[in-house]
Amino acid sequence: MEQQKKTIFSGVQPSGNLTIGNYLGAIKNWTALQDEYNCIYCVVDMHAITVRQVPAELRARTYETLAVYMAAGLDPEKNTLFVQSHVPAHAVLAWDLGCYTMFGELSRMTQFKDKSLKHADNINAGLFTYPVLMAADILLYQADLVPVGQDQRQHLELARDIATRFNNSYSDTFTVPEGYIAKTGMKIMSLAEPTKKMSKSDANPNASVGILDSRDDIIRKFRRAVTDSDTVVRYAEGKDGINNLMSIYSCFTGKDFEAIEREFEGKGYGDFKLAVGETVADCLAPLREKFDALMKDKKYLEDVMKNGAERANYIARKTISKVHRKIGYVGL
Ligand code: TYM
Repeated sequence: MEQQKKTIFSGVQPSGNLTIGNYLGAIKNWTALQDEYNCIYCVVDMHAITVRQVPAELRARTYETLAVYMAAGLDPEKNTLFVQSHVPAHAVLAWDLGCYTMFGELSRMTQFKDKSLKHADNINAGLFTYPVLMAADILLYQADLVPVGQDQRQHLELARDIATRFNNSYSDTFTVPEGYIAKTGMKIMSLAEPTKKMSKSDANPNASVGILDSRDDIIRKFRRAVTDSDTVVRYAEGKDGINNLMSIYSCFTGKDFEAIEREFEGKGYGDFKLAVGETVADCLAPLREKFDALMKDKKYLEDVMKNGAERANYIARKTISKVHRKIGYVGL
């Protein structure tokens, strides 16, 4: 039975405080998939070092990210949860696949262009070849589906192109993965500049809401969210701030936009913002509680990491030996 389940792979970088964008665009959707699919979720620490990290912070965030996965409801018995650097095959396959990826393709990646502008003093080769490592992550596990937010769509397309190119050069080797991008929540915007994506690396603390923020902080940030000069709560072009708040509210309550418009008919933005803040805080409170409990037991988190790495290594080694045989490396 286990064999017939389709495989899912996804990951989050432990590069900052995880936001409700990461939660709604990715992690929340993962929890809904864990029964139907064979799910592999990774803390992608090797991706994080494309931007300078403080070692102690990277280490702490790696534990925290795993704890968030579990606090959000991912069961380590049902899913393979692991840390990328514990499975060397990611780096090995990334090298191989880099030789099947074109310079021009990588140059077109919008995230590379954005990050090069943001980190102009550190445009390292890893930042450039990052999408190859992401392709390796996915293809190592022969993933059928990759649940991510909108900002990863281009990287995913590249992973599909690389897989197809390799398959066409030799014979069927990799499953060509499909994206799984939820309609609502795929792109949560900044609360300070609602035309910009909410990001865990935003320097403005009011721009993003952390999954682990306190109740007061969450409510305060929503209260301050930038909106427009209209007063009616409705989803419409040009109302980026309100559209974003409606998307967030919809994701947390399951209500569609029409129902939300009806609920706030005759009420102002102030009431709406307070309701969104309180709802988000209420929904995240149990997660925060579980997170705190998990973080008290590092040994347990390490056991989960070890177990996950063992399972991931086993699958990854099989793919690597298949790939190396096709390429023409001597196998011993
Ligand atoms: P990362 O760490 O930037 O983000 C993790 C996940 O959160 C989604 N996301 C968002 N979704 C909606 N609104 C937002 N504002 C928002 N911000 C982030 C991202 O789309 C992502 O799904 N390269 C990836 C990590 C990665 C990966 C992989 C993902 C590495 N290897 C293999 C899938 C498969 C990244 O930087 O995500």
